[in-house]
Amino acid sequence: MATADLSRPNLRRATNDDLLASIMQSGLPGTAMPPNALRPREVFTIVAYINSLRTAPPRSGSAGSAARGQGLFAGKGDCLSCHRVGDRGAFLGPNLSEVGLLRRIAALERSLLDPGAEVLSQNATLTAVTQAGSTIRGRVLNEDSHSVQLLDQAGKFQSLRKDSLRSLTREATSSMPSYGDRLTPAERADVLAYLTTLRGN
Ligand code: HEC
Repeated sequence: MATADLSRPNLRRATNDDLLASIMQSGLPGTAMPPNALRPREVFTIVAYINSLRTAPPRSGSAGSAARGQGLFAGKGDCLSCHRVGDRGAFLGPNLSEVGLLRRIAALERSLLDPGAEVLSQNATLTAVTQAGSTIRGRVLNEDSHSVQLLDQAGKFQSLRKDSLRSLTREATSSMPSYGDRLTPAERADVLAYLTTLRGN
């Protein structure tokens, strides 16, 4: 069955709120979209919701250039020192190869401006100190009461028994710096434009 992705910036037929409302109420003849008996208030709420799904332009202003953003990602932004895209980069931060599919632009922008605000548990950084005194830092892949599996900073898989550790600490804040000052608003818009193109292969 054909479906419509409501978060796409341009809905093909529902080009404005009135049209969207009337399609919801009357359906689209000849398609799988049926008419719905909705009260005006319900229609209004749904229209507002659908509008909120559409990709809002970044706060930093006009749409950037993905090509410039790619240069900043590898260069001035130094993102590859922590992140991986395809087969380039490092392992401390999450792999961003598909981040354009997984996150909306507002969430990406928040990651750049205020990285500590929301660290997804699968992105947390752990530091383990072994009884022998060596320190292993990395991203947690899996954890149970006896062991923890990390991807260390060299990209090596480490499986550690908890009873062989002196300590195991989950970093409370993100190790990612804020790019509020490190990049200009125009540069951030370029990096965001590049991130939205990262959709796997
Ligand atoms: C010092 C290491 C470091 C650098 C440099 C760094 N990051 Fe991060 N980044 C992280 C870590 C760790 C996380 C996971 C914790 C978090 O969400 O803040 C993260 C999270 C993110 C996320 C959220 C990913 C998700 O799954 O939601 C995005 C997007 C991101 N970084 C983009 C960037 C970009 C773009 C740059 C360069 C302009 C950059 N990062 C530079 C370490 C870094």
